[in-house]
Amino acid sequence: MPPVPKMPSSRNQPKNPKGQATSRMDRILIEGGVPLHGELAISGSKNAVLPLMVAALLSEEKLVLRGTPRLADTRTLAQVLEGLGATVEEFGNGPGEGVSVQAAKLTSTRAPYELVSKMRASFWVIGPLLARAGQAQVSLPGGCAIGTRPVDLYLKGLEALGADIDVSGGYVNAAAPHGLTGGRIDLPFVSVGATHVLMMAAALAKGETLITNAATEPEVVDVGHCLQAMGAQIDGLGTRTLHIRGVARLGGADHQVIRDRIEAGAFALAVAASGGKATLTGIGAADIGALASSLRLAGVDLAETGTQGLQICAPDGRPKATHITTEAYPGFATDLQAPFMGLMCCAEGVSRIRETIFENRFMHVQELARLGADISLEGDTAIVTGVEKLHAAPVMATDLRASVTLVIAGLMAEGVTEINRVYHLDRGYERIEEKLSACGARIWRERI
Ligand code: EPU
Repeated sequence: MPPVPKMPSSRNQPKNPKGQATSRMDRILIEGGVPLHGELAISGSKNAVLPLMVAALLSEEKLVLRGTPRLADTRTLAQVLEGLGATVEEFGNGPGEGVSVQAAKLTSTRAPYELVSKMRASFWVIGPLLARAGQAQVSLPGGCAIGTRPVDLYLKGLEALGADIDVSGGYVNAAAPHGLTGGRIDLPFVSVGATHVLMMAAALAKGETLITNAATEPEVVDVGHCLQAMGAQIDGLGTRTLHIRGVARLGGADHQVIRDRIEAGAFALAVAASGGKATLTGIGAADIGALASSLRLAGVDLAETGTQGLQICAPDGRPKATHITTEAYPGFATDLQAPFMGLMCCAEGVSRIRETIFENRFMHVQELARLGADISLEGDTAIVTGVEKLHAAPVMATDLRASVTLVIAGLMAEGVTEINRVYHLDRGYERIEEKLSACGARIWRERI
């Protein structure tokens, strides 16, 4: 008889920020049908803190980031930064918590495949490494499987700043031995990551850089504000044209990270889907942007509650079917497309959900179908015919935003929905079971 395999000891399992062991095989169970009531605190923005941590590589001084979320993705990035010589330290608890990153000396300019393949944002170290050290060897990135996600815009932009680029063996080898020089970069379409990287690189380049068709997402503006606090000369943040005058060095800074508008959007949808009434704290209707208008069209009531936050109140009956099209900011965020589809599964009528940013961001459709949703795909559009009820089933998280969609669907479904592969969820949502169960949700994790 073959030997019985030994279960891994919990001591060897990776820990989540609160010290609990997590595993790639963990699953989440949700008993649907309970309306959410109470308060949901919104964490710091994942998609702001990741580029902010990368920006710390631009300076030998310490960058202190406050109000940061503790997520699998921030830990992965911390490993990448430590591999380059930075010291990354988490501090505090609760609202006062944060992370500091100091790259007093860059001891390496190589970001390896093992780490970069886990998360696309770790590729972004290429900008600061080139600008500060004059060279970088960075693995081509991985991340959520939501499309081909090339890096051509980054490479062309860095070339426009004077870098020599060679791609071989799965690595981008970039060199600018005499430093980067300012230039003009006309981005053919909006890219959040390319804007982050080129803005960071240009901040330390010699001379002036003009970036047209820049991303205006709040996370880009937040990174820009932090770079300004470090001494960067950037004009035009929040517009499509950035004008950057390079400086010889950047200093440290103490920066408060913006709240996570994507987490807030997902929670607003969860409250609406559950038929409940709850307040998202630390955020207003303007922060969730285009989603706020779509929610109102769907019959969800949104009310600002002074300094406290945004109250979400589900419609009396089923939500109304509402069409959306994803677009670069200030349009409807692609990161909320899947969660919005979750709500629409039980809407009255037919909604058309069009994805224009990523070509393969409909992997949640087949999982929602397992719960009884009626969805067909026509090219870049999902046609969702609302059903009266979803019914629990085992499902699988396929990517980060798909995973929270299954949580939303699970809150609506009759019975106990079992969501597998929740490591996707842990990449981007801090203490989600804790937050939702404090509002009455019957949700728990099975550690395997
Ligand atoms: N693109 C190219 N070439 C490039 C760069 C981008 O073709 O060189 C394409 C992409 O393939 C995509 C489009 O441009 O089709 C837009 O991608 P973008 O570069 O804006 O996305 P990103 O920077 O890789 C960030 C977020 C994503 C979010 C998008 C769009 C982070 C860490 N990631 O990705 O967030 O969906 O912007 O808003 O900020 C998530 O959090 O789940 C997530 C995927």
